Amino acid sequence: MTADPKSIIDQLDDIEAEAKREWDQADPKDRPTIKSRYLGKKSKIKSILGALKDLSPEDRKTVGQKANQLQNSLNDHFVLDQVQSHRKAQYDHTLPGRVQPRGHRHILTQTMDDVVQIFYGMGFEVADGPEIESDYYNFSALNFPPDHPARDMQDTFFLNDEYLLRTHTSPVQVRVFEQRRPPVRILAPGRTYRNEAISARAYCVFHQVEGFFVDVDVTFADLKGVLSAFAQEYFGAQAQLRFRPSFFPFTEPSTEVDVNCLLCGGKGCALCKYEGWLEILGAGMIDPNVFTAVDYDPDVFTGYAFGMGIERIAMLKHGIDDIRVFYDNDLRFLQQF
Ligand code: PHE
Repeated sequence: MTADPKSIIDQLDDIEAEAKREWDQADPKDRPTIKSRYLGKKSKIKSILGALKDLSPEDRKTVGQKANQLQNSLNDHFVLDQVQSHRKAQYDHTLPGRVQPRGHRHILTQTMDDVVQIFYGMGFEVADGPEIESDYYNFSALNFPPDHPARDMQDTFFLNDEYLLRTHTSPVQVRVFEQRRPPVRILAPGRTYRNEAISARAYCVFHQVEGFFVDVDVTFADLKGVLSAFAQEYFGAQAQLRFRPSFFPFTEPSTEVDVNCLLCGGKGCALCKYEGWLEILGAGMIDPNVFTAVDYDPDVFTGYAFGMGIERIAMLKHGIDDIRVFYDNDLRFLQQF
């Protein structure tokens, strides 16, 4: 080992080139030996470092720095190379890609959007109202007299004396009438609640779409017209509607509307309770008392309203015979839509 700093630096350069070449050409199994030969305790670099004491202080510094740089550079070279070859071994570009599951709208949301879309095409605007509603909007303003048994038609979740979870979307009628003057042609989709025993046909939460139109000369024929157009478009040409007389405090006359059961083709099945028909909505001509409460003149304006059950129409359209599956969050069900 000579003490000439210049030649030591040359030697170090040679060692670097030689080490890298040797490493690059070596069989992977020989590489640990190569690594320890160049970076281990008995390496050439170590012995050069050991001989530093024979140099002048400045040379010692230059050579020492160079030797350290070399060790780092070799170390990086070896390590990096190992990482890369490891990656190469792990990466198989012939493997099929991993498909990430994609979310989508819940079937009930899709159904509501479809309904809204159809009525939107017939000139309806969309409005909404709160799910926590006051007794006034849910009942009183809709012509349910206090303590009248009609309130029992809808088993209500009361929050306190004044507030409740809305049992239908009809309170949106009153909220809109308070804000606007006729003509109003509105659709109000949303969630509703009833304290019912849970079964294949009833759940404590469900969805409705409320529709109403108030103007001069609006008639029951207009109501039949829009509902029939809707049924044809939503269910298809085979859909038929049946209007049965009914009662709601806020409409007069009132009707309940059935669709022929598309699941059994009218023969009778569990979904239609073996009747061949399934009720999908309540409707009627808005009662003059509702108009008076919101300061619409009942001698000038008439209007119809309907409230459609979203679960009902989705069940009918897709042949679902148990309402609870909408709320179970079972992906095997939800992924079908
Ligand atoms: N709100 C009624 C219900 O939930 C349905 C309805 C709406 C009836 C509008 C008439 C007019 O049962």
